[in-house]
Amino acid sequence: MELKLIFITLLGLFCCCNTQKEGNECIAANAKYCGECIQAGAKCGWCADKNFLKQGETVSSRCDELQSLIKRGCNEMHNPRGEIKTVFNKTVTNRTRGEKQLNVDEIIQVQPQKLLLTLRSGEPQSFLLKFRRAEDYPIDLYYLMDLSYSMKDDLENVKNLGTSLKEKMDGITSDFRIGFGSFVEKTVMPYISTTPAKLLNPCTGDQNCTSPFSYKNVLKLTNDGSLFNNLVGQQHISGNLDSPEGGFDAIMQVAVCGEQIGWRNVTRLLVFSTDAGFHFAGDGKLGGIVLPNDGKCHLENNIYTMSHYYDYPSIAHLVQKLSDNNIQTIFAVTEEFQPIYQELKNLIPKSAVGILSANSSNVINLIIDAYNSLSSEVILENSKLPEGVTVTYTAYCKNGVVNEGETGRKCSNISIADEVIFNISFTSKGCPKKGKQETIKIKPLGFTEELEVILRFICECDCSKDGVKNSNDCHFGNGTFECGACRCNEGRVGRNCECSSNDVATEDMDRNCRNGTDICSNNGECVCGMCECKKRENPEERYSGEFCECDNFNCDRSGNKLCGGHGRCECRVCICDPMWTGSACDCSLSNKTCLDSNKQLCNGRGTCECGSCKCINPIFQGPTCELCPTCPEVCTENKECVECRAFGTGEKKETCEKECSDFKLTKVKTRDKLPQTNDASYPVKNCKERDANDCWFYYTYSVNNNTEKVVHVVEEPECPTGPDIVPIVAGVVAGIVLIGLALLLIWKLLMIIHDRREFAKFEKEKMNAKWDTQENPIYKSPINQFQNPNYGRKGAGL
Ligand SMILES: *[C@@H]1O[C@H](CO)[C@@H](O)[C@H](O)[C@H]1NC(C)=O
Ligand SMILES: *[C@@H]1O[C@H](CO)[C@@H](O)[C@H](O)[C@H]1NC(C)=O
Ligand SMILES: *[C@@H]1O[C@H](CO)[C@@H](O)[C@H](O)[C@H]1NC(C)=O
Ligand SMILES: *[C@@H]1O[C@H](CO)[C@@H](O)[C@H](O)[C@H]1NC(C)=O
Ligand SMILES: *[C@@H]1O[C@H](CO)[C@@H](O)[C@H](O)[C@H]1NC(C)=O
Ligand SMILES: *[C@@H]1O[C@H](CO)[C@@H](O)[C@H](O)[C@H]1NC(C)=O
Ligand SMILES: *[C@@H]1O[C@H](CO)[C@@H](O)[C@H](O)[C@H]1NC(C)=O
Ligand SMILES: *[C@@H]1O[C@H](CO)[C@@H](O)[C@H](O)[C@H]1NC(C)=O
Ligand SMILES: *[C@@H]1O[C@H](CO)[C@@H](O)[C@H](O)[C@H]1NC(C)=O
Ligand SMILES: *[C@@H]1O[C@H](CO)[C@@H](O)[C@H](O)[C@H]1NC(C)=O
Ligand SMILES: *[C@@H]1O[C@H](CO)[C@@H](O)[C@H](O)[C@H]1NC(C)=O
Repeated sequence: MELKLIFITLLGLFCCCNTQKEGNECIAANAKYCGECIQAGAKCGWCADKNFLKQGETVSSRCDELQSLIKRGCNEMHNPRGEIKTVFNKTVTNRTRGEKQLNVDEIIQVQPQKLLLTLRSGEPQSFLLKFRRAEDYPIDLYYLMDLSYSMKDDLENVKNLGTSLKEKMDGITSDFRIGFGSFVEKTVMPYISTTPAKLLNPCTGDQNCTSPFSYKNVLKLTNDGSLFNNLVGQQHISGNLDSPEGGFDAIMQVAVCGEQIGWRNVTRLLVFSTDAGFHFAGDGKLGGIVLPNDGKCHLENNIYTMSHYYDYPSIAHLVQKLSDNNIQTIFAVTEEFQPIYQELKNLIPKSAVGILSANSSNVINLIIDAYNSLSSEVILENSKLPEGVTVTYTAYCKNGVVNEGETGRKCSNISIADEVIFNISFTSKGCPKKGKQETIKIKPLGFTEELEVILRFICECDCSKDGVKNSNDCHFGNGTFECGACRCNEGRVGRNCECSSNDVATEDMDRNCRNGTDICSNNGECVCGMCECKKRENPEERYSGEFCECDNFNCDRSGNKLCGGHGRCECRVCICDPMWTGSACDCSLSNKTCLDSNKQLCNGRGTCECGSCKCINPIFQGPTCELCPTCPEVCTENKECVECRAFGTGEKKETCEKECSDFKLTKVKTRDKLPQTNDASYPVKNCKERDANDCWFYYTYSVNNNTEKVVHVVEEPECPTGPDIVPIVAGVVAGIVLIGLALLLIWKLLMIIHDRREFAKFEKEKMNAKWDTQENPIYKSPINQFQNPNYGRKGAGL
């Protein structure tokens, strides 16, 4: 049981967060009246249309995002917006040096000067603030010097400061005033020695020292440099015991005693010169002083009288007072203490640190440098904002630099006469200060000029002014009728305040909430005999109806969208937009999507049903039946494109990218890796084509589920193999040899046959021969007989 509760709580939390993220803060606010609604967010509006609410909807259903209200048919919306009114917007002074002198009050460096902002919750109001450093702007400089004994040599050098500084400052301003003050320490033990002799002359030996004092305003700000020299020349060094000095007491007095010091509303510089550390809040306890510094002026005859009574001020206190009085501090300290004052500088806005040489000889350069670095930076600061109001700054600085976020209040490296612009944006949440107006001041640190912003907050709708208290429209005067709805008096509930919150649910009333068995169809609560339907996590989803029997989210879906995204759901039935039909509005009556490139319906190969083509013959595919993956001409049609895409050859080699990008190409290793399917719904056409090199390449052509053309191609084309020389030569040789042999054989055979024949003939003739076998008729005796005619006749011839 408990587990279940926790689960539900977690679920609730989750849903809450979800709703916040979803963004309909207007519904989530569950607003009971117009004012509450418009405070929920900038997008929220209130419908004051009397007949707007459907049965079962509560008053809070009048609060919704503006577009939603319009969609829901509201005729009278209340949606007051914030605005900016300019009260003073004098142009910043643009004057070069030497032009006619202006009174300090006449120089304007901040524009505008006064604005009236009306803020609507969640709606930012932004304006531009222009800042321009005026040339030749007057400067007041007060020199506050440590006169403890160690500063003896420094005092010598400072004596001429008045005239020399004035000379130097002439380059910056023609209106320069200088003042002088000195400090030592609180005049109590243990900071100083209180023996009577030491009180008179705290220094040892025959040194002529003056009595110790806390802070003395020696010279009110003046433009007379020689008066400064004169008075400072009369100063004597003093002495104390411990090393840290009581300078903070002095700074506080300088800051708050404006009249005695003579500060004008101009650039105020305070030079704090010392060679030691400082005491701060809490250190006073050592001397038995526990009262915190009161931050008020206690100068009598230009001498601080309460040093023994109030503790040293804290750093934060000083920061506040210095800033309140627009004083920029320059710490001129010896090298030894520079790190400490550097830290202090980081805590005090608009302050600078310079290293003082042992005898203060470099003080003038130090002051000039510090002044330049201080005045080259503009930092905007605003007074405390009421709760629920936020402000953001964006700085448009010199050279196109834009600072945002943390640094948005700041521009650096500004020279005289440079102009910078800040975009300042105010946002409020809810109804701050219960709608009372509030004044905020924005000013550049260290400057006296400021912008005054009066904030007003919109907490109510205008129509609520015309509200009728205890109106008869609200159940015998139990509520105020305003903005089209009843705003119930304390202790009353219901749309018309018809019910006391004590008897919200009784048997009698519950009966009115039933149509059948379930109270409010289990989708709502019975309040005073009327159903108030449940809210859903998703603010777009609503229950409605007298018994909450309707809702707008249980309609048929198509493509995971309620009513296919082409209609709205009313009481669980889709009401389709024009040109759509079907229970889920998923059937388009328009034939537009069925038109092919020739403005023909489905290429004449199908019918248009619900916006898509139904091809008569399944061999046709594609959105307009334009594809026929298995038609025979497919192979030749695509041959060139496949060839150039796969192998980079062929007729379309050059134009391949342009003409042949309408299909997906996949290369496979071998022919048996090509997709094969006999599935009628996914036909694949096998193709075999000859390429430019007279090789065969194989590919398949198909159309996938997304009607993309898909081509698979075997990555190596198949080429006829070339003739092999060796066997041919060998064959030829062998052939020649064989033919020769055969010819020889034939010849031999013929010879043999011929011989045989001759022999047979011979034999036959021989048989037939009539001549004596012993005497060859053709035989001729090889013996030739010759008769020597002279034989016998002796010596006849001789
Ligand atoms: C002030 O006046 C200037 C013109 O001089 C104008 O551009 C600017 O928008 C005004 N600022 C405000 C906040 O009205
Ligand atoms: C300021 O005045 C000078 C002449 O006096 C002019 O050249 C310059 O453009 C002005 N600057 C602005 C920002 O108005
Ligand atoms: C100021 O910045 C906001 C955004 O933060 C922007 O909407 C607005 O337009 C800017 N205002 C001006 C005057 O540039
Ligand atoms: C110290 O100075 C005071 C006033 O300047 C002077 O009257 C006094 O004589 C001096 N004493 C010594 C010891 O120099
Ligand atoms: C300086 O300005 C403040 C208001 O910002 C004013 O109250 C004060 O009187 C001015 N002081 C002088 C000396 O003009
Ligand atoms: C100050 O001290 C420096 C050395 O640290 C020396 O050179 C210079 O002359 C001194 N100046 C004066 C005015 O005493
Ligand atoms: C400051 O601005 C000047 C030009 O106005 C530029 O030369 C210089 O580099 C800038 N310095 C810094 C630190 O941005
Ligand atoms: C509120 O309504 C009740 C009836 O339900 C009526 O009796 C009563 O007078 C009304 N209260 C006011 C203040 O009108
Ligand atoms: C109440 O229920 C009956 C029967 O179920 C139905 O016909 C009728 O429409 C319902 N009435 C309302 C207002 O829903
Ligand atoms: C769409 O085409 C069908 C035939 O396929 C035809 O009956 C219908 O009238 C056409 N509809 C439109 C709006 O053209
Ligand atoms: C195409 O879609 C059908 C179902 O719609 C599916 O069965 C089939 O596998 C898909 N074919 C391809 C190649 O993705």
